[in-house]
Amino acid sequence: MSMRATVEATPNIAVVKYWGKRDETLILPTHSSLSFTMDETLCTRTTVVFSPKFRQDELWLNGQQMDLQDKETAERFGMLELIRKQAGIRHKAKIASLNGFPTAAGFASSAAGMAALACAASKAAGLDLNAKDLSILARLGSGSACRSVMGGCVEWKAGKKADGSDSYAEQVAPASHWPELRNVIAVVDAKKKKVSSRSGMKQTIRTSALYPARVSYIPVLMRDIKAAIQSKDFPAFGELTMREAMNMHAVMLDTWPPIVYLNDYSKEIMYAVNEYNQAAGKIKAAYTFDAGPNAHVYTTDDQAANVRKMLQSIDGVKKIITCKVGNGPQYLKNGHLLEEDGTAIAHQYVEGKGIVKT
Ligand code: DP6
Repeated sequence: MSMRATVEATPNIAVVKYWGKRDETLILPTHSSLSFTMDETLCTRTTVVFSPKFRQDELWLNGQQMDLQDKETAERFGMLELIRKQAGIRHKAKIASLNGFPTAAGFASSAAGMAALACAASKAAGLDLNAKDLSILARLGSGSACRSVMGGCVEWKAGKKADGSDSYAEQVAPASHWPELRNVIAVVDAKKKKVSSRSGMKQTIRTSALYPARVSYIPVLMRDIKAAIQSKDFPAFGELTMREAMNMHAVMLDTWPPIVYLNDYSKEIMYAVNEYNQAAGKIKAAYTFDAGPNAHVYTTDDQAANVRKMLQSIDGVKKIITCKVGNGPQYLKNGHLLEEDGTAIAHQYVEGKGIVKT
């Protein structure tokens, strides 16, 4: 029996952000969050092979071998043990993962990467998990990854239980619900962030006096933004999206020492989007920012060309990428990054073509 699987997963961009854990080992959040999974414009391909012949787990990221003894990497790959346990196997795994987007694009690919790993590793181990169980596995790699195991609009329910069994992702609407939606990404900085999300959110919980107010406003926001999405009311959705992003960045700034992810270019983008909306007489574009200065501007297809033009005219915008909402992870029959015996099959990302065999 083949114990190999290859999956392509895509990032998700939250409109209700996850920022803070109630359990750092099980990766349980203090509140729920909501995102759209992107299409394959930005994707990560991962192949996992299990074999009784392998003597140790091995991980290759973009052609480079990673140290699985490293504390953070080991934590993120803890899901492998769980998968082995559930499948009743003790085989070691070889994992190869390749980003299908420009490395200089400034994206942390952990959500797509961990979602691809959860799907590929469980499939290769012979498990047939449903979306809920896959999201619980992906969550253990990186919280936000649990929302990338399904397409469309996805909610990560915070849950209350100490064991995390009620903290999982659920689809709110499929990609086909709002096919006009676009995310125009303006890259202003491609460098790795100074403060990781993991340590940043820990500091926020510890030190921000504003944080409890954020946590208590989220349930109302979740209700309102889901209603705006269900009725495809862009102005309502856009206002809530922008205000929520600023709320998260406000608690980051209120953290001690302060965490500042936005830069002057991010601010230029905010002002430009506000002006764009003022000129239109209603909200037609809405920015959001994760733990970094790059802008994700949600808009609709009829506005996308103008939004791109507006962003292109801003000094400091290095690259613009437009994504649609996607369908979630794809299980590939061809294009494996590893042979059944674990030997690498060379692939690379070529702009305009995607991941190709070399
Ligand atoms: C700002 O999922 O990367 O992008 O669970 O510690 O791995 P860990 O954090 P991570 O945090 C993402 C934070 C965010 C908001 C979001 O995507 O919801």
